[in-house]
Amino acid sequence: MVAARITVNGKETPISPAPPHTTVLDFLRERGLTGTKEGCAEGECGACSVLVARPGVNKPTDWVAVNACLVPVAALDGQEVVTSEGLAAADASGTPAVLHPVQEEMAVRGGSQCGYCTPGFVCSMASEYYRPDRCAHAGRADGSEHGPNGFDLHALSGNLCRCTGYRPIRDAAFAVGLPAEDDPLARRREQSPPEPVATRYTQDDSSFLRPGTLADALRLLRERPEAVVVAGSTDWGVEVNIRSRRAGCVVAVDRLPELRELRVGSDHIEIGAAQTLTEIERRLDGSVPLLAELFPQFASRLIRNSATLGGNLGTGSPIGDSPPVLLALEASLVLADADGEREVPLRDYFTGYRQSVRRPGELIRAVRVPLPLSPVAAFHKIAKRRFDDISSVAVAFALDIEDGTVRKARIGLGGVAATPIRALATEAALEGRPWTARTAEAAARVLRTEGTPMDDHRASAGYRSAMLGQSLMKLYARTTEAVSS
Ligand code: FES
Ligand code: FES
Repeated sequence: MVAARITVNGKETPISPAPPHTTVLDFLRERGLTGTKEGCAEGECGACSVLVARPGVNKPTDWVAVNACLVPVAALDGQEVVTSEGLAAADASGTPAVLHPVQEEMAVRGGSQCGYCTPGFVCSMASEYYRPDRCAHAGRADGSEHGPNGFDLHALSGNLCRCTGYRPIRDAAFAVGLPAEDDPLARRREQSPPEPVATRYTQDDSSFLRPGTLADALRLLRERPEAVVVAGSTDWGVEVNIRSRRAGCVVAVDRLPELRELRVGSDHIEIGAAQTLTEIERRLDGSVPLLAELFPQFASRLIRNSATLGGNLGTGSPIGDSPPVLLALEASLVLADADGEREVPLRDYFTGYRQSVRRPGELIRAVRVPLPLSPVAAFHKIAKRRFDDISSVAVAFALDIEDGTVRKARIGLGGVAATPIRALATEAALEGRPWTARTAEAAARVLRTEGTPMDDHRASAGYRSAMLGQSLMKLYARTTEAVSS
């Protein structure tokens, strides 16, 4: 097996002797690439953003911005990384000499004062600059967050600046043009990204392992059931950095082909558990409206570029954003172990606080969403900030309303119990009844009593209950507005 190494700004660099828990951020900074900054070390500020060459949605390769503070460097064995230093064109001695177009716009439009956040901003901005279908959104005047050059401001939703202010940064984002024909990173998109490589990286008594096939991964998990399974590492990276957790064995599953498929069949959609949320969002392209509502509200673009549905369900958090939506969609999980597969409805999956029916050695291989979809759907995330925040309460609705009567109601809730739950009593209060203000008010009263909400620093139990009821009234108002307009 070839020694683990990554290509940084075109230069191959061995990973050894970094310990397996070393983050990409620390690895880069220890090698002098100090443009990549640490602000929070938990995926919230974007100061550490770098670009990684990943399989593209519309081109062979996309330049994807990720939080270097969360990703173990061993996870990028065989991969290509570009930092803010690598964006600028170098002179004959290799010194960055000519600013990249996004760096140039940030400079001339006053997008940088102290400069601490700037390398992270330019990497996130460069990822959007190179997005192949960016110009399909150019000139949209629909109130979305796209600039006249098609730049989607959500690309910067994971980057914080504490001194410049965001208007000049937005000006810079909306001023960038298209990449020149001889732009090396634009040309790189036309070639395939590096293949994932099987990695066995061990230092002292800890290992980072990337099996090459699902069968190898399942065998390994049978032998090492205590191993920490990671995909995008957006959760585990926080544990390592903030809680100083270390694992004897980390197993990466994010590049297993069997976990990266997206198939639309006649009676269900199967989403590979290791596809990133950005990939799912772009591949589904709005065809599952509830998921399309969820994605912009799920953390930031930087996180969505690494986070997976399998990871969000695997951690079992009661305030994960995807479970309420997937519960409303009546999704099921395909669980795989070395003996085979089984399918478990999501409503039966969670058994307690961060607990589930998943056995040691079992992986979430895919999420299945049955078809057809219910036509009336909405996702309401109640949080202190509109984007990039943790929910106090999350509610997802999927309703079939025929001839003015609710034929079927599925409601998923997060943040009101030790696990995500279905609002079964409210569903029963809706089904078979006319979709009227009276029905909605009666069902909202029931919805306020679902779960066992708690008081905590995000919200009081009373507020959470009130928001449940308001969510249903909001859905009713929206649907009746749509009918009457
Ligand atoms: Fe803040 Fe990585 S250092 S997101
Ligand atoms: Fe100082 Fe952004 S320029 S934090």
